[in-house]
Amino acid sequence: MDKLVSLAKRRGFVFQSSEIYGGLGSVWDYGPLGVELKKNVKERWWRSMVHEREDIEGLDAAILMHPKVWEASGHVAGFTDPLIDCKQCKNRFRADDPRIKGTPGQPDGQCPVCGSKGTLTAPRMFNLMFKTFMGPVEEAAAVVYLRPETAQGIYVNYLNVMQSSRQKVPFGIAQIGKAFRNEITPGNFTFRTREFEQMEMQFFVKPGADVEWFEFWRHERMKWVVSLGIKPEKLRFHQHGADELAHYAKDAYDIQYEFPFGWNEFEGIHNRSDYDLSRHQQFSGKKLDYLDPATNERFTPYVVETSAGADRTTLALLCDAYHEETVGEEARVVLRLHPSLAPIKAAVFPLVNKDGMPEMAHRVLTDLRGRFNVFYDDGGSIGRRYRRQDEAGTPFGITVDGQSTSDGTVTVRDRDTLQQERVAADRLAGYLADKLKP
Ligand code: GAP
Repeated sequence: MDKLVSLAKRRGFVFQSSEIYGGLGSVWDYGPLGVELKKNVKERWWRSMVHEREDIEGLDAAILMHPKVWEASGHVAGFTDPLIDCKQCKNRFRADDPRIKGTPGQPDGQCPVCGSKGTLTAPRMFNLMFKTFMGPVEEAAAVVYLRPETAQGIYVNYLNVMQSSRQKVPFGIAQIGKAFRNEITPGNFTFRTREFEQMEMQFFVKPGADVEWFEFWRHERMKWVVSLGIKPEKLRFHQHGADELAHYAKDAYDIQYEFPFGWNEFEGIHNRSDYDLSRHQQFSGKKLDYLDPATNERFTPYVVETSAGADRTTLALLCDAYHEETVGEEARVVLRLHPSLAPIKAAVFPLVNKDGMPEMAHRVLTDLRGRFNVFYDDGGSIGRRYRRQDEAGTPFGITVDGQSTSDGTVTVRDRDTLQQERVAADRLAGYLADKLKP
């Protein structure tokens, strides 16, 4: 993991937030390569959820919502972690922190940071939502929350979307956006952060059809994850036991990846029953039920949710892609990202900076730019330039050499097989388009 974090920083995938001020705890910024990778993940998700299906519509709801939303959703009362304070050193821990010795609140309870005995308080509930104030007065009536999940923006818009798009149950609403949680034990790089991005889809179904749709979406989501090129042996389902289920869930499966720090969830599929719509109906006093035009039946739809973290999916992709290997005499680090997700699709190199090669390389670059994210590099030996692109996960290296200027062909080096092929420069765009298909 340390090697990946260092590569991520060195190559511009991920930086610590506000680094020059010492950083901000568990908040990260995506650099030039990271933003491209994460954007490609989000685009793939949006395409498969919204564009390729007739029964799902897109939405982009605001982060700030009416505070009643979070009472109705159960987050004000239930989105809490039990915490323990050390009265001696003032540090705060989750009650399940494995470093704690003895029983908190009792004389044997020993602080994992300062080592004092008997100074730990009994567990107290702590809400994970970030609070802020709306308007000029900082008073209780002006409190608003930064959303801890994007899902609620979908529920409160369910009627608007259904009516404006003329959808009928079963149908879904998909959304990508930021969510915030004041996590107490964040960590493992971008795995658990306080600001993150979710890709969520809520599928509204007739009660009784929920179990079947839940199974459908669970398998559909696993197929999508595999289509990103993640090694299937590093993926598994984990079904939530009764003690793990969120307050809204009737059934839940995580899709887990075997990260360097162990098997962990990066997407959840939840059967939320009619919990959310019923609660919003109750708290808002507005009818959110559905009249089935075929049967004339009225019901409150059940919701099957697929909830993926854009950051965790991106982290799983980076972990899965990272390889160290020896080629001939030399060691190289290579990110074997699926070509369709790679931040840079092809790098263009003049073999040497003379004899018309830079001019032709620039022409090749201009031809490809606009259709693909391409990169020009004329610095250092060709071997070093290839290796820099291997670390960035660039699937193709295009070199303009001595032969190119006479016969109009270039070499294309494949990042993974290291095979080189001669391709006519004017056929490169078609060649790349073919290789970059998802
Ligand atoms: N709407 C349901 C929901 O939010 P969740 O299991 O709490 O369910 C879904 O979160 C996904 O959001 C997780 O699988 C993870 O990928 C991402 N996620 C949640 N908390 C996160 C955090 N603190 N940092 C990064 N990603 C997080």
